[in-house]
Amino acid sequence: MIKIAPSVLSCDFSKIGEEVKSIDECGADWIHIDVMDGHFVPNLTFGAPVVKCFRKCTDKVFDCHLMISNPLEYVEDFVKAGADIINFHVECDSPIDATLDKIRSLGCKTGLAVKPNTPVEAVFDYLEKLDLILIMTVEPGFGGQKFMDMSDKIKALRAECKKRGLCPDIQVDGGISPATAPVVVNAGANVLVAGSAVFGAEDRKKAIADLRS
Ligand code: DX5
Ligand code: ZN
Repeated sequence: MIKIAPSVLSCDFSKIGEEVKSIDECGADWIHIDVMDGHFVPNLTFGAPVVKCFRKCTDKVFDCHLMISNPLEYVEDFVKAGADIINFHVECDSPIDATLDKIRSLGCKTGLAVKPNTPVEAVFDYLEKLDLILIMTVEPGFGGQKFMDMSDKIKALRAECKKRGLCPDIQVDGGISPATAPVVVNAGANVLVAGSAVFGAEDRKKAIADLRS
């Protein structure tokens, strides 16, 4: 089943609580929360205290995408703030196994993300510990960028998972729209993150439905 995870990075931050409620009511499956530290990526967003505030606005699954250098240091804060999935980058400075073990020990789901220039094989050593793999379809850091076709990576990942009898969520993030969604879904992705395609639409309910179909 396809899941749609609107990214709050593209919302109007002057009324962020209403924005989170709005995408909940418009049919989002998950809420994608982009955390950036100005070091791992050249942009800053917010930390766990803000995620805690979002938690008051919705019961939907919180998919926290940590674009930060040292996720291990912050995992516990985000879980306490209400994260359901902690999604961090294989290119980060924290030890990957220890970070995944910590996330699981706190009762949270695990996700590992790969940037466009990182081979997907970089996550293969960890597949048995992963609930989700995020294949970035833009360079992480900003919303509204142009989609990069990562179909070969998605296909290779799906094939490897199948070979091992695994069926994790495969998520894509960046430049996802009704035009690019079929490309990634046909390759094997089942969770679509969308920032501008949802928040930039006049009718968000329709935008989410269009992506899903
Ligand atoms: C980029 C973020 C994305 C971003 C997607 O670093 O991880 O989640 O918000 O925005 P769009 O859908 O506009 O490319
Ligand atoms: Zn993201």
